[in-house]
Amino acid sequence: MATRIIREEGDEILKKKSRPVETIDDKIKELVQDMIETMHKYNGVGLAAVQVGILKRIVVIDLYEDGGVPYILINPEIIKEKGEQTVDEGCLSFPNKFAKVIRPKEVTVTALDINGKKFKLTGTDLLAQAIEHEVDHLNGEVFIDKIIPGTLEVVTEEGKNN
Ligand code: NI
Repeated sequence: MATRIIREEGDEILKKKSRPVETIDDKIKELVQDMIETMHKYNGVGLAAVQVGILKRIVVIDLYEDGGVPYILINPEIIKEKGEQTVDEGCLSFPNKFAKVIRPKEVTVTALDINGKKFKLTGTDLLAQAIEHEVDHLNGEVFIDKIIPGTLEVVTEEGKNN
């Protein structure tokens, strides 16, 4: 396993649409493990493969709940959205930016697991938000383009003069 470099704001790859995974081979499994390791390194709640420069429809999510394991979603498809929530959001590709966005309160998604088995997952609140945010990445969409106007906060790192 290894961590990978996260593509950041300004990198054109973030605007590209990812392609479905056709075969979950050893290379894909290694990518998934690297994505989980990279997400954990930066304390992210989710990461899409495009964020490490791979245009494949793979998402990992970890809510850091007690005893929880990361969600792995390969070729995810949102099949149902319900309700609405206004939430604070950030993204590992926009490390200094935070803003409010409107997301569905509940989301149901189908996807393949690491063994290629199809499953269905319904998430509410933070999980719904994370699924929406990460599936957006697979479609070349980033949160900064859908924020509620006037809510953007740019955080500058401590100890830096500029
Ligand atoms: Ni993101």
